[in-house]
Amino acid sequence: MDKKNKNFDQELLDSSLRPKKLREFFGQKKILENLVISLNAALERKEALDHILLYGPPGLGKTTLGHIIASEMGVNIRITSGPAIERAGDLASILTNLEPNDILFIDEVHRLSKVVEETLYPAMEDFALDIVLGKGPSARTVRLDLPRFTIIGATTKAGMLSSPMRDRFGIIHRLGFYTSKELEQVVKRSSKILNVSLDHDSADEIARRSRGTPRIANRLLKRVRDYAQVKNQGKIDQSIVRGALAMLEIDELGLDESDRRILIAIIEKHGGGPVGLETIAATIHEDLDTICDIYEPFLMQLGFLKRTPRGRKATKKAYQHLGVPYPQQRSQQEPLI
Ligand SMILES: Nc1ncnc2c1ncn2[C@@H]1O[C@H](COP(=O)(O)OP(=O)(O)OP(=O)(O)O)[C@@H](O)[C@H]1O
Ligand SMILES: [Mg+2]
Repeated sequence: MDKKNKNFDQELLDSSLRPKKLREFFGQKKILENLVISLNAALERKEALDHILLYGPPGLGKTTLGHIIASEMGVNIRITSGPAIERAGDLASILTNLEPNDILFIDEVHRLSKVVEETLYPAMEDFALDIVLGKGPSARTVRLDLPRFTIIGATTKAGMLSSPMRDRFGIIHRLGFYTSKELEQVVKRSSKILNVSLDHDSADEIARRSRGTPRIANRLLKRVRDYAQVKNQGKIDQSIVRGALAMLEIDELGLDESDRRILIAIIEKHGGGPVGLETIAATIHEDLDTICDIYEPFLMQLGFLKRTPRGRKATKKAYQHLGVPYPQQRSQQEPLI
């Protein structure tokens, strides 16, 4: 399947299972508490919300939260992305078509071009656009007033956001991985929507192997449903879940084949590290961005991978998980890393 089709399928699955209201959004408690305050305050004042930046690994609910915020505020949401706004003119036409208090959701906000970013600054701060009319000596700038609006920026790479851009968001939240308990709630909710009957143990098993990520929990649920349909007349129990996940080569911690390839490459080809991410990517023929966005954060969260100034290092825990003996001498020689 090519990347475009995969994204299309993913988007279909995402939108069918996406919670529409705050009470259907599980986990991220601290963020929700803060957002509820901001939302209520803005509603009471009948004002637009402050600009919001949501960042964190893929599939944790940034886009979902954007939609929920708009629906709770009772305003329109317009969705776009950094690379889609090519010229300052594109931005101007989007902004001038917004109604008061509307939300403009900009996905991959770190990928806005410099020119677009600079046009956006006064729009975010003063709700005004500076437009240059004409060319050469007769060119002049006119200031166009805009309605008050809210930008929700989303990114998996907050580090790549320019600091003036980052500073213009009044509310900044980092989404973290979910606990198994929270994912269990996600899986149970999705199973109802998909009309699949799921007992507690099965939901728990899927949740524990979903890498702390609701999108993955939903994806695994669908794969388990397929497997149960073919192997067990549609009936799901814990052993069916285990069978389905074994076929997908997902282990008890949720690691898949690519995670293991990364760890094995570091351990077997690079003596356990430290080794640069580019070298790892080249060793296993995987896209650098995919490793950075999808694999590395979870491997670090598990404590299997460590960042050092000289590159990534596999930890003792990673060796143990893979059943590879940890070189004793090495740990004595390099106690500080
Ligand atoms: N807190 C949650 N509760 C229930 N379901 C959730 C939650 N967060 C995410 N989901 C589910 O996971 C799917 C993926 O979430 P979403 O598209 O919001 O992720 P994202 O952070 O925008 O990812 P990306 O960085 O890839 O754009 C959603 O469609 C939804 O079904
Ligand atoms: Mg998204």
